[in-house]
Amino acid sequence: MNDGDLLINVENVTLRFGGVVSLRDVSLAMRRGEILAVIGPNGAGKTSLFNSITGVYQPQEGTITFASNRAPLLSVIGKKTHRIAQAGVSRTFQASRLFSALTVFENVKIGAEDHGGIGLAGSLVKGPRTRKGERASDRVAAELLNFVDLYHEANTIASQLSYGARRRLEIARALATGPEVILLDEPAAGTNPSEKLELTSLIRRVRDERGVSVLLIEHDMKLVMALAERIYVLNFGSIIAEGTPEEIRVNPAVIDAYLGTATEETSA
Ligand SMILES: Nc1ncnc2c1ncn2[C@@H]1O[C@H](COP(=O)(O)OP(=O)(O)O)[C@@H](O)[C@H]1O
Ligand SMILES: [Mg+2]
Repeated sequence: MNDGDLLINVENVTLRFGGVVSLRDVSLAMRRGEILAVIGPNGAGKTSLFNSITGVYQPQEGTITFASNRAPLLSVIGKKTHRIAQAGVSRTFQASRLFSALTVFENVKIGAEDHGGIGLAGSLVKGPRTRKGERASDRVAAELLNFVDLYHEANTIASQLSYGARRRLEIARALATGPEVILLDEPAAGTNPSEKLELTSLIRRVRDERGVSVLLIEHDMKLVMALAERIYVLNFGSIIAEGTPEEIRVNPAVIDAYLGTATEETSA
């Protein structure tokens, strides 16, 4: 891989919680512009990896760098979460963290204003909250709601949305910070088959139409195989395979650890 193409570089990362090793000597290289997936059984360390990349967890060993287009190369470990967000890394959470009592519109608008003015609106208008800033975040929120096809629900209270719509709203909110890369932690969890198809096409459009790179954790193999250009497989905290969906599907170690049942399901 050409170094200029590297967006996120995780090298030899080990993360421990007391006696529990969540990540063991993990290395992962993400290219700018790709849709990359991390798969693996429950407890494999997928969310821990996301938490390490976003500054929520501090691994004891290894390095993580983020090559932003708008900031110097960022050494992630030890940096505050807002610094990393500011550099262009955004995420969604495995368990929904929407403001359930606020409207759909307000949820996205807050994302645009969040992080000390680094949101898309903040980058359009510098300085303290002004009426101009208000209008900028209104514009950003409206545009993003259109993008995720929720504009017609702008005034709906978030808790009243269907599960699929809620997951689309989370993506809109994560995009509102104006990221270069978005980390999606099980974005299709709990959705039905038609919502999964909508999410698949939305995630592809995030990269194709907005140029935002996508790092994806997902259990639904159909969705992963349809979207990801490359896949890393985690098992008990270690990377056991890396490759294209076709390579991963036939990798014996992966089938052993994880895919056995899923492969049977998809071929049925
Ligand atoms: N904050 C924490 N404190 C203690 N153990 C943790 C913490 N976060 C994760 N772990 C442990 O790390 C391992 C990997 O968890 P996680 O990253 O959530 O896996 P996954 O997302 O692949 O299901 C699990 O054994 C989990 O209990
Ligand atoms: Mg998880």
